[in-house]
Amino acid sequence: MAGKNIHAFLVSFPCQGHVNPLLRLGRRLAALGALVTFCTPEAAGVSIRKANSITDDGRPTPYGRGAIRFQFFDDGWDFDSPNRDDLPAYFSQIEVAGRVKLPQLIHKEAEAGRPISCLINSPFVTWVSDVAESFSIPNAVLWTLSCACFSAFYHYHNGLVPFPTEREPEMEVQLPHVPLLRHDELPANLHPHNTHVYIRDVILALFRNLSIPFCVLMDTFEELEGENIEYMSRILGRPIRTLGPLFKDLESELESKKESKALRADFFKAEDCIEWLDSKPPRSVVYISFGSVVHLQQEQVDEIANALAESEVAFLWVVRPPAREMNSKPHVLPGGFLDKVGDRGRIVQWSPQEEVLAHPSTACFMTHCGWNSTMEALASGVPVVAFPHWGDQVTNAKFMVDVFKVGVRMCKGGEAEGRVVPRDEVASLLEEVVRGPRAEEIRANALKWKKAAEAAVAEGGSSYMNMQCFVEEIARFNLVPN
Ligand code: UDX
Repeated sequence: MAGKNIHAFLVSFPCQGHVNPLLRLGRRLAALGALVTFCTPEAAGVSIRKANSITDDGRPTPYGRGAIRFQFFDDGWDFDSPNRDDLPAYFSQIEVAGRVKLPQLIHKEAEAGRPISCLINSPFVTWVSDVAESFSIPNAVLWTLSCACFSAFYHYHNGLVPFPTEREPEMEVQLPHVPLLRHDELPANLHPHNTHVYIRDVILALFRNLSIPFCVLMDTFEELEGENIEYMSRILGRPIRTLGPLFKDLESELESKKESKALRADFFKAEDCIEWLDSKPPRSVVYISFGSVVHLQQEQVDEIANALAESEVAFLWVVRPPAREMNSKPHVLPGGFLDKVGDRGRIVQWSPQEEVLAHPSTACFMTHCGWNSTMEALASGVPVVAFPHWGDQVTNAKFMVDVFKVGVRMCKGGEAEGRVVPRDEVASLLEEVVRGPRAEEIRANALKWKKAAEAAVAEGGSSYMNMQCFVEEIARFNLVPN
């Protein structure tokens, strides 16, 4: 059994966009026989415990041929501390607390007879690599964005190709084996006009520490970003192991489908909307969700709501309360909206997104193009209306529309473009992707990627083989010499 005797200790930054892919990796490792400890600050633990049926009492939950346990650590700030609204300060605080807590946890695991075989971290907690090195524990990094974005940050960090500057803000960027990117198609954090400099810096920290991990893992697959993955592995001098789509558990490795449904770390409890979807005809429902962070302007919510109210389309719309650090007001739907749409529309605060995208009634996905949503849409064969806002989302939208050709673009990037997309435009884009003259072609492309994704994770596929190699590599590192 490949993963037997391995204890993989996974450390995630406490946000949904990192927790999801890292836990999915944990599930895949556990399915192969590993003991997995999933670790993130208690700030996320509070929400995760409330929304899911998991325990963090130290006892592992059996999963596949292995098991998973959760370990939340105190980040040193009171849960209600106003400091938490200051994201740059919070990045530093997690590092300060983590550099003390993680060594303690590593000792505790060894004392309990469960020495750690591999420390795996997501971006934003790059200090985990330093801790791994100081304990001589093998370290791997799970890059949670696309390989194209990895290449952009790598080339930017190493000054290998020119990027837009204050003097030339509209410069195009040509990365090797990546289609030419306009200035507004680059990961927005790398543009000189970007205001979230601290996010750029926290991502770049990973590239400063890149000599430590023995490999870089990615939630993408070879068939999707092939040449670029090969090229980046070559210049890194270490394999990039693509394991995606990570959310696709291999059922043959599990006791039952129920297992993977039960082991989740959502920050909100998903509302049941599957019965409602069951009641709708095949390919008739527009699913609208903007991930866990993006908070639309109220005017944009009004325009989307009015487009939906005036159309005849059925829709499932995730209207989530704003993340605390956004300091924003919850959205309000226009008066009379719910009465007007009746059973044609369903509003939820959080959906079981993977199930929604896999549902036969789902026709298209209006998405902010976070990388997890992008992979989930591609691997489910669902056409998209791309509505990116910032960061990697603008690059993902470019790829979905121009390279993978699975949808239409609502705008270049909400924040970059700085406009509210009017209701007529929203309505005509939905129409175009669901029923327009190009709808069949878009759907055929989406189905092509779904098949490719399924083949990548199936036994013998590229991601499957990479996972086997990764597990064998950890096992080799941990062989005790005779
Ligand atoms: C963040 C960044 O915003 C994004 O740009 C980056 O690519 C990843 O990190 P987030 O905005 O939360 O992520 O979006 P996304 O990457 O799509 O992750 C959201 C996750 O939450 C997905 O796995 C999605 O399935 C899940 N989700 C979202 C639900 O399960 N239910 C919902 O209602 C909404």
